[in-house]
Amino acid sequence: MNKVLNFGSVNIDHVYTVGHFVQPGETISCQSYRRFAGGKGLNQSIALAQAGAIVYHAGKVGADDLWLKTLMDDKGVDTRLVETSNGPSGHAIIQVNAAGENAIVIVGGANQLISAAFIGRSLANFGIGDFLLVQNEVSNVPQIIQSAHAQGLDVVFNPAPMTADVLAYPLELVDILVVNETEAHALTGESEPQKIYAVLSQRYPAMAVVITLGHKGAYFFDAHSQLHQPIQAVQVVDSTGAGDTFIGFFLAELINTNDPQVALAYATKAAAICVTRLGAAASIPSRTEVEAQPPS
Ligand code: RIB
Repeated sequence: MNKVLNFGSVNIDHVYTVGHFVQPGETISCQSYRRFAGGKGLNQSIALAQAGAIVYHAGKVGADDLWLKTLMDDKGVDTRLVETSNGPSGHAIIQVNAAGENAIVIVGGANQLISAAFIGRSLANFGIGDFLLVQNEVSNVPQIIQSAHAQGLDVVFNPAPMTADVLAYPLELVDILVVNETEAHALTGESEPQKIYAVLSQRYPAMAVVITLGHKGAYFFDAHSQLHQPIQAVQVVDSTGAGDTFIGFFLAELINTNDPQVALAYATKAAAICVTRLGAAASIPSRTEVEAQPPS
């Protein structure tokens, strides 16, 4: 079976539930505070593993935070490519408001120590038929994409968090781009799914594009198909990690079935479960839970 190498961040999430996001000059008390495992990379690796994919996580954690690596191991992620660093792990400060929306500040820490040598070591046992998944929360993303493509892997890129320099990344080497509305708008200047794809397909004709739209579901576009999948309406507790859950389940099911419509359906169900719980990695459902959901 095809393997996935996920080159991604590993964070400690400090999650504060608040009545409203703190405003400039304001001091507020939170209703609750909890510490969770997180990071877009770690979340997506766990989602892939929960969905049944063979996933290797490559990344860095602080030597004092090996519990993050153990958690990934326990969830079925192969962590032999997770290295320890003498500096601190990455972390995130996350406010979650009464509507379940979040506001996140990240601190890169060890995630910003991805060297060319580490990229080379990590890719050594991957090749044609395997997938590289990467987000924009580690250093050296352009080189990760270039090296993986040169070695024959299919490249899946989630430009989150979106930064101006993404526009200069080698996006022509990306096989599947997964974006939310904000990321899509920053890349194309468009907000409507068909228009977003029209711009991207002009620039990168071979690229497949997945656009996630929260409660409006998700779209898949490539040269042959335009697919939409609605999402089930649920009571949102915390939307953190929903996009990561979607990506992990989408890619796992795409590898499993080679059918993007089936993968979209599976991924939207998983994301709908994720938002009903607090925390990122902690909210990612099991495959059994997703399969028990009715179709949306
Ligand atoms: O996508 C959610 C993640 O973004 C959180 O887990 C946090 O660590 C930030 O990376």
